[in-house]
Amino acid sequence: MNLNMENFYSYLNVLSWGKFNELNVPINFDKLRYCYEKYKNYAIQYNSSKPLIRRFGISLISCTEKIDDPTAFGSLLEYYDKTGIKLQETDFSKKTEAWHDSGLEESFNEISDHLYRSHFLILKPGGYFPYHRDYNGFPMLRIIITIKNCKKENFIFGLDDTLLSLQDEKIYLVNTNLSHFACNISPKDEKEVVFIVMNVLIDKKTEKFLFRNLKIR
Ligand SMILES: [Fe+2]
Repeated sequence: MNLNMENFYSYLNVLSWGKFNELNVPINFDKLRYCYEKYKNYAIQYNSSKPLIRRFGISLISCTEKIDDPTAFGSLLEYYDKTGIKLQETDFSKKTEAWHDSGLEESFNEISDHLYRSHFLILKPGGYFPYHRDYNGFPMLRIIITIKNCKKENFIFGLDDTLLSLQDEKIYLVNTNLSHFACNISPKDEKEVVFIVMNVLIDKKTEKFLFRNLKIR
């Protein structure tokens, strides 16, 4: 990672596009759904110290190649307190088997080495993330890929002062340094909300890729 002035300007440029933008990156959603079905039984609790919140994850890019390493789904501060091992976001760069089966390497090949902690997230009805920020001190933003039940009938996603209108099978670039929350409001138990969150490091290279793939530019 090169934190020079040129790359810093790239981060400012990308932030200037706004907090929420749709991307046109070509994604094979059939392959992605198949990948989710293949690995969904390996999903583990997100943040095991809060087991009552019905949210689960499957790692695509993590600090190990395991799809079910709980380190990817917990607080790094808590991990340090427990183990004495200091991890940071840039340690989450190992691609898992699920990543290689997802087809996402083909879609993001050009910036694959700029992708960090990434996973499928599954929210069961009532499952939620309360208001928080993803800020981690690095010039990173989030790419969210919606898979299923992400429309507002089942899922609400608040970002800063806005309630987003998400659609299924879309790709969004989101500034989750801003406060945000997400909740599966579906009353029926079978309606799980599934989406992917990817951390992307912003520099000259990713700025170019993202701008070229903005839906509106
Ligand atoms: Fe978040």
